Amino acid sequence: MKILMVCLGNICRSPLAEGILQSKLPESFTVDSAGTIDMHAGKAPDLRSIQTGKLYNIDISAQQSRPFTTNDFEEYDYIFCMDRSNLADVLSLAKSDSDRKKVSLILGDAEVPDPYWGGLEDFDKVYHMLDKAANTIASKLTAEVEKQL
Ligand code: 4NP
Repeated sequence: MKILMVCLGNICRSPLAEGILQSKLPESFTVDSAGTIDMHAGKAPDLRSIQTGKLYNIDISAQQSRPFTTNDFEEYDYIFCMDRSNLADVLSLAKSDSDRKKVSLILGDAEVPDPYWGGLEDFDKVYHMLDKAANTIASKLTAEVEKQL
């Protein structure tokens, strides 16, 4: 089972989403993240995301930003987007219903606000939103995999 988290720059929200979800799942699950723009490709996450993760024992410092590609539709089973703009950008690259079915907003019908222009308190809010969402996703995916066994 492979899960991809997507935001705009892949330096603030989706790296945290990746680290948090991976911490709640066994190693047999692959969790990765990507951005809809390539502006930060190769860079480590924003220091404020690294610092926020560290507060809760989630180490995201080794991650590197990379852009989302159409190949990700083949590679991943679930693609979770942080906001509606990310969702629209990813869906615009989908080639089939099977691609489209994999894509959703991580909060269902709400958005994870972009903390890039904000302060540490905004990163902390994002952390808690993602932690809650990751609990729901981890339970659902664990149950799904057990059913397949
Ligand atoms: P992210 O945040 O999409 O959560 O990684 C942002 C990162 C960079 C920019 C905007 C949002 N930017 O404009 O460079």
